[in-house]
Amino acid sequence: SYENRSQQGVTWTVVSPIIFTYRIIQCRDLLDPGNDALLWGHVGDGALTGAARNGSKPVRRFVVIDETVHRLYGPRFARYFEAWGVEAKILPLATTEENKSLELVAKILEEVHEFGIDRRAEPIIAVGGGVCLDTVGLAASLYRRRTPYIRVPTTLLAYVDASVGAKTGVNFAGGKNKLGSYVPPVASLLDCSFFQTLPRRQISNGLAEMLKMALMKHPGLFRLLEADGRKLLCAKLQPCDAISGSSSEQEDGAVASTRIAIETMLEELAPNLWEDDLDRLVDFGHLVSPELEMQRVLPALLHGEAVNIDMAFMVYLAHQKGLLTGDEKERIIRCMRGLELPVWHRDCTLDLVRQSLQERLKHSAGSLRMPLPTGLGRA
Ligand SMILES: NC(=O)c1ccc[n+]([C@@H]2O[C@H](COP(=O)([O-])OP(=O)(O)OC[C@H]3O[C@@H](n4cnc5c(N)ncnc54)[C@H](O)[C@@H]3O)[C@@H](O)[C@H]2O)c1
Ligand SMILES: [Zn+2]
Repeated sequence: SYENRSQQGVTWTVVSPIIFTYRIIQCRDLLDPGNDALLWGHVGDGALTGAARNGSKPVRRFVVIDETVHRLYGPRFARYFEAWGVEAKILPLATTEENKSLELVAKILEEVHEFGIDRRAEPIIAVGGGVCLDTVGLAASLYRRRTPYIRVPTTLLAYVDASVGAKTGVNFAGGKNKLGSYVPPVASLLDCSFFQTLPRRQISNGLAEMLKMALMKHPGLFRLLEADGRKLLCAKLQPCDAISGSSSEQEDGAVASTRIAIETMLEELAPNLWEDDLDRLVDFGHLVSPELEMQRVLPALLHGEAVNIDMAFMVYLAHQKGLLTGDEKERIIRCMRGLELPVWHRDCTLDLVRQSLQERLKHSAGSLRMPLPTGLGRA
């Protein structure tokens, strides 16, 4: 900090860079009792792990889990903690987009408080889709000003997107994610085997965010999704080595596509965790989609679907502006259809686009930036 004296008095200016360190860990068999990642993955290898394990205090964990995920995997989580002798409180909640609110945050906080956690040693664990991870993240960032938390994404969308960055949030006053914080988890634990129980539509939903990264900055990922998108969708992004036992000389399509999506996302997010820089490629598809998402009554659009409708519109716009050739435009739209994503919606009107642009302009310090594709994998 530094001091500045003037006739009016003294001003102290505090400059305090905050450093966050968090780990994103891809692993198989997260629920195998032989795998300690769920308990200790956030600590990292080394001394602390041993100390924490050998400590005399019993290990405790507070787990918030999406209701549907609990129905499917609850017993395996219970068995896992039992095997490690962990005193676990597992709280299943209906973490739906309609419930993504401050009330849900308060409900979680009350339960956390009742259980009583040691905020230095007992991170809160969130298991579910983006709604669960966002809501628990916000609750954790509020509890005693900041309690560490762990993300375990169980949808493809949360795996490639919500688990990678630092954002938490809930909907508020009719606005999507209008309340939130930039507080990353201490760890994100990624296990793609959860996708096996996802409905096909949820896989397409996640592929939309992967396509976003492909269109903005990775021609190779675009080619992969263009050529094998449908195959990946049908296989629910399960790597086929498990089945065929094939050698790993050539990286599996499912493994490669999720890895590239995460890497490109991190490249964009890590230097700009607080989103101070408004030139954000990751915002592609997120200009009109928030309005579209909030406006929809049932049957609601999924996040990735709304994002894709937004992207398709922008692809046409880019073509109009001469940034994309007709052939490139066609290829992108065909790829989207192959991934079984909607490319058009009757509620995505010019009025809605205008309204979204105005809304965005209000929060962009007067100058509106919007990413547009200028080729296949370039923006
Ligand atoms: N924080 C971020 O950076 C970020 C990024 C992208 C999206 N989001 C947010 O994420 C939310 C969307 O996330 P989502 O698409 O994961 O939706 P979601 O959390 O609503 O989950 C989708 C559905 O899948 C079910 N489900 C979850 N895992 C399952 C499994 N393994 N098997 C079967 N069913 C399962 C859930 O019960 C739910 O019905 C939005 O609210 C969006 O704002 C946040
Ligand atoms: Zn998104």
